[in-house]
Amino acid sequence: MDKKVVLITGCSSGIGLSLAVRLASDPQKSFKVYATMRNLDKKERLLESVKGLHRDTMDILQMDVTDQRSIHDARDRVVEKRVDILVCNAGVGLMGPLELQSLNSMRQILEVNLLGTIQTIQAFLPEMKAQGRGHILVTGSTGGLHGLPFNEVYCASKFAIEGACESLAVLLQHFNIHVSLIECGPVNTNFLVNLEKAELGDAPLRLVDPLTVNLYEKYLQHCSFVFQNAAQDTEDIVKVFLEAIQSPSPAFRYFTSGALSPLTQLKTAQPDGTQCIRAMSDIIFSSKEK
Ligand SMILES: NC(=O)c1ccc[n+]([C@@H]2O[C@H](COP(=O)([O-])OP(=O)(O)OC[C@H]3O[C@@H](n4cnc5c(N)ncnc54)[C@H](OP(=O)(O)O)[C@@H]3O)[C@@H](O)[C@H]2O)c1
Repeated sequence: MDKKVVLITGCSSGIGLSLAVRLASDPQKSFKVYATMRNLDKKERLLESVKGLHRDTMDILQMDVTDQRSIHDARDRVVEKRVDILVCNAGVGLMGPLELQSLNSMRQILEVNLLGTIQTIQAFLPEMKAQGRGHILVTGSTGGLHGLPFNEVYCASKFAIEGACESLAVLLQHFNIHVSLIECGPVNTNFLVNLEKAELGDAPLRLVDPLTVNLYEKYLQHCSFVFQNAAQDTEDIVKVFLEAIQSPSPAFRYFTSGALSPLTQLKTAQPDGTQCIRAMSDIIFSSKEK
């Protein structure tokens, strides 16, 4: 049987790298993986992780999701001239008081997380429609399901992805193309290191009112507690991707921790939002985590 052709964005580290390694090392050699990354200087980590097992199952391509030409070049280098499974995973974070975020930083995060994902899908969609089959998977976030203080623009980008994917899913079922969001909570990756973040002690933070700075400090403590104590490993996330990829009738949403978070449940059960916002505030700002 022909290998399934998979193209993944953001494979230099984290979830994208782990997924590329798992699929390229599949014992049945069921997949041909195009592992893409914006900077090929970072490919060594991926190559070391596949330990030479990849020769006929993986190619590494340059692809910056903010650069349409780079997306099209990568697409045109797919030898099979088709992609069965497209994984839009590349993403970046931005953290800090909203009044400190520059227009450039906000644009950049929307360019990568939102427009980058959309223009990647745009590039592969006509071919998938012509084939009459395909699966588009997007790395979603609980930050796309409920708001997180000091992550307004990140959440805006991930909420927007929910809307884009849901809209597409309605249409694409008429083409036998599935759309799945893999909703992740905290995951042990370079994400927190790579994100653009206001640090306590940074000069610009001194321009912000003391209550905001105080709450930001609490948020950072909460965030580091959660990442130290409750973050999933990339292997856990990869298992959920595999479940979605191998399903004959994939769901639209997969929750990597197995269930809808209590906050998201609250949001559905109490649609006016008051309780959800209060609960989120209590969780983040009233706890005694250190
Ligand atoms: N880690 C978490 O807690 C968490 C939680 C929920 C959702 N997510 C989502 O998971 C996805 C993967 O993140 P991760 O946790 O694996 O973090 P990561 O290790 O920082 O990986 C992010 C990947 O995206 C790539 N990337 C950034 N900008 C790009 C661009 N313009 N074009 C192509 N690739 C680009 C990065 O490449 P460079 O190395 O070149 O920067 C890197 O390969 C993101 O969409 C993120 O929003 C993560």
